[in-house]
Amino acid sequence: MRDKDICEETVLKNKIEPDFLDKPTCTDIVKEINRERKGSFYTPKIWVELSQKYIADVLGEDWQDEYYVWDCAAGTGNLLTGLTNKYNIWASTLDKADVDVMHDRIENGANLLDDHVFQFDFLNDGFEKLPKGLQKIINKDNHNVKRHR
Ligand SMILES: C[S@@+](CC[C@H](N)C(=O)[O-])C[C@H]1O[C@@H](n2cnc3c(N)ncnc32)[C@H](O)[C@@H]1O
Repeated sequence: MRDKDICEETVLKNKIEPDFLDKPTCTDIVKEINRERKGSFYTPKIWVELSQKYIADVLGEDWQDEYYVWDCAAGTGNLLTGLTNKYNIWASTLDKADVDVMHDRIENGANLLDDHVFQFDFLNDGFEKLPKGLQKIINKDNHNVKRHR
């Protein structure tokens, strides 16, 4: 679909004034509307650090070894930056482009595992689409089972 068609479709769906279509900024605003719909706002570093501090306050300093993390709306994975136990982290998100960014980041040193990062729509996909390793963890009776090594 061409940009202009996407623009017209979105304008109709969102009941935007049609003359707006002629404005050069239309595709930017359509992009912004779509971004808002998906909640695609990336987490700034300061909030990433604070989130990890809050989790440690509640779960204890060793939480990364004792719990699994599945960020199921991971975007490009900012929220996982700085976590140390990649074996316990899983990241999925809606858009393949964001999954590709995470895989690129791994190639460039991000502390995540390639096969723990995948595309998944948490509203529409079934758990059978999850990687087997994550399915195993989720299907355990006790979800807060501590990991034994
Ligand atoms: C607030 S952003 C996450 C940003 C992320 N913490 C970061 O800083 O990179 C929310 C993400 O959820 C994704 N998302 C929205 N709906 C989704 C769905 N149904 N399933 C999976 N991901 C979804 C969006 O594409 C967006 O990337």
